Amino acid sequence: MTLAELEKQQAQSLAEVAAALDAAALEQLRIRYLGRNGIVPAVMKQMKDVAPEERPVFGKSVNNWRSTLEAAMAAKAGAAEQPRAAGNAFDPTLPGRWPAPGAKHPISRVIEESVAIFNRLGFSVADGPDIESRFNNFTALNTPAHHPSMNASDTFWLAEDQLLRTQTSPVQIRIMTQHQPPIRIITPGRTYRRDTTDATHSANFHQMEGLYVDTKPISLADLKATLAYFAKEMMGSTAGVRFRPHFFPFTEPSVEVDFACHVCAGQGCRVCKMSGWIEIAGAGMVDPRVFDFVGYPSEEVNGYAFGFGIERIAMIKYGIPDIRWLYENDARFLEQLR
Ligand code: DAH
Repeated sequence: MTLAELEKQQAQSLAEVAAALDAAALEQLRIRYLGRNGIVPAVMKQMKDVAPEERPVFGKSVNNWRSTLEAAMAAKAGAAEQPRAAGNAFDPTLPGRWPAPGAKHPISRVIEESVAIFNRLGFSVADGPDIESRFNNFTALNTPAHHPSMNASDTFWLAEDQLLRTQTSPVQIRIMTQHQPPIRIITPGRTYRRDTTDATHSANFHQMEGLYVDTKPISLADLKATLAYFAKEMMGSTAGVRFRPHFFPFTEPSVEVDFACHVCAGQGCRVCKMSGWIEIAGAGMVDPRVFDFVGYPSEEVNGYAFGFGIERIAMIKYGIPDIRWLYENDARFLEQLR
């Protein structure tokens, strides 16, 4: 073996040590190069074939190879050991560990925020059960007996007079039959409809109802101001409101309420489908017939009511394209909420 060959072998062995992936690979290399039948001892044995005048240089080279190789292996083994051996030593170069805290669900966030906004306007939270009577969910809300929403294809009926509420509006009836005006309530809660699930429908969703009833005169302008305040607080200062005429059995007049698109401020964009407006709520002045049903003197009281979908606001506010994301607990979605 020549000196040049020796150097080549040395370089090769050091490269292999550097590339060793784990302790086992390192041990293989140790056996291969430094073991009793390894390459380095074998080269040592060839010393007798080297020309006598070259022997000192050659011998020094082999010894140097052995020590360099041993040092490289020790360093490499030490590096592999370090994380464990270091124990409680602080290594500022390691990436930080994310503590993975939980986060409030968008539905909870919208409910909590809405409640806080309406609290500031003097509304308090009222609650009602998910299982309702026909009277509270339909009849007292002035819904005629033939109304299609009462069909078994639209409503989950549990018994002749028992159903899963299709709206939070029955809480209006519960409160008015138990309390005298003035009444200023909001009612967040679950609602149920026999809808086929798709990107914008779910058989189980959330609504928030609002009701203000008083013996003092209340106008549609009061309703509009209240919802305009809510829009701005919820969506940002550019969110105005507009009313479009509509029909609900329990309000007269009835309106549908649009928020000016909070993304483009009414200019038209993808979020509002170029219209500048996003449909948010149903509302209106409480129909005197509802007051009759709850036993209020309908000549002496008046008020407004409104109801909106919590999911709808969450989807618009947080840019969630599919309502199912809110229920499926897909970690890829939930992780975005942090
Ligand atoms: N309950 C209606 C619905 O589910 C929403 C609604 C409209 C509620 C008008 C109201 C109202 O209180 O006045 O579509």
